[in-house]
Amino acid sequence: MTVACVGKGGSGKSSVITNLAVAGLDAGFKVGIIDADPQQSAYLWNRVRTRGDIPVCRSDPAALGPLIDSARRAVIELTFIDMPPDLRQVPIAARYADLVLIPMRPTLFDLKVTHSLIRILDSVGCSYAVVLNAAPPIREFGESPMVRDARTALKDVSPRLWQGQITNRVTVPHATVRGSGVVEFEPAGPAAREFRSLWAAVSKSLKLEGANREYV
Ligand SMILES: Nc1ncnc2c1ncn2[C@@H]1O[C@H](COP(=O)(O)OP(=O)(O)O)[C@@H](O)[C@H]1O
Ligand SMILES: [Mg+2]
Repeated sequence: MTVACVGKGGSGKSSVITNLAVAGLDAGFKVGIIDADPQQSAYLWNRVRTRGDIPVCRSDPAALGPLIDSARRAVIELTFIDMPPDLRQVPIAARYADLVLIPMRPTLFDLKVTHSLIRILDSVGCSYAVVLNAAPPIREFGESPMVRDARTALKDVSPRLWQGQITNRVTVPHATVRGSGVVEFEPAGPAAREFRSLWAAVSKSLKLEGANREYV
């Protein structure tokens, strides 16, 4: 199975990819990452990680096909693709991914890009989901007005909008700078809970069998 992240620069593609890969590994799956963004964030993260438990390959988006095939031959169950922000590359991700994730901050600029991405992904007919990232925290009165506004702006695609959120927390970059995912770095913390919940939604959408299904 293959999951790709597309979206605006700074929306959280690399953070979502690395954290989901770690959550998948933690759930007992053999995971790998293809870093198709010239910024090479996931590749750098893995160099800091040094554990060698998540292979990360760099690739031009145009060369994804053979790399995905070799990941399958290496019995990698889940390949995560970190795409560049360039919208012209999105159809390539759609061609290879079983699920495309669109992380977005609940801001006007991100919303504009997300609407463009939705048009592209709808036109090629692929499975995708929007993930609100770096969102203001949920308080006792519920989601923040920014998140509610973003959900309203996305009401036409509400079945494809993940019901949860990844909150803006310093734990996320802190885990990254250590080459970790939040589920390793602070397993009992709220960021880990959110990423486990996102992992659960992704594995349900992909109908993943085996490994530690009770993980969630
Ligand atoms: N949920 C979050 N909380 C706090 N910081 C975040 C969160 N998600 C991303 N960031 C930070 O925002 C910046 C951009 O995220 P990144 O994953 O590199 O985005 P992209 O790959 O889409 O360009 C990074 O510094 C990252 O650590
Ligand atoms: Mg990135």
